[in-house]
Amino acid sequence: MVLIKDKEFVPYISAHVLKKRIEELASEISNDFSEGPAVLIGVLNGAFMFLSDLTKNIKVPVEVTFIKVASYMGTKSSGEVKSLIGLDLDIEGKSVIIVEDIVDTGLSMKFLLELVKERKPKKIAVASLLLKPDALVHDINIDYVGFEIPNRFVVGYGLDYDGLGRNLPALYQLK
Ligand code: IMP
Repeated sequence: MVLIKDKEFVPYISAHVLKKRIEELASEISNDFSEGPAVLIGVLNGAFMFLSDLTKNIKVPVEVTFIKVASYMGTKSSGEVKSLIGLDLDIEGKSVIIVEDIVDTGLSMKFLLELVKERKPKKIAVASLLLKPDALVHDINIDYVGFEIPNRFVVGYGLDYDGLGRNLPALYQLK
């Protein structure tokens, strides 16, 4: 059990299970993007660990860049998305993969997809370590999903509760 601020979290997905699944996703991505360099767009802050481990296991040339959006306050979605850091790389005509930690309502990803589409990439795919299908309210397609999880708040492996818990090497679920 870990205590973060006022909330207790219990072990949910171990570091070993995360590692194995991420290797599988990286292998799928390596097969699907064998035709040329792809751009991985990591969504800050939560995706930094997933992006790092995924990238290390991808066997085709990739560029890496970041984008930052925020939609959460505490353990609830705020219902609006803000762009905090924009794309600094020209992605026109390139294949891109948006790499996200978790898709919850899908609002952030819908916003990100619109933002990335405006920059005219050749192809857009989405990789998300976690997906909460029961929370999803926006019609978006996630090409690579690590784990479908129930609609419960999770922390660790890059995901935070009020800024804390990102350093945990495994995933924990709200008790
Ligand atoms: P959405 O816009 O509702 O899909 O929320 C996506 C964003 O909310 C993610 O990128 C996370 O930053 C955050 N988020 C959603 N669910 C959780 C959770 O269970 N733990 C930590 N952050 C979460």
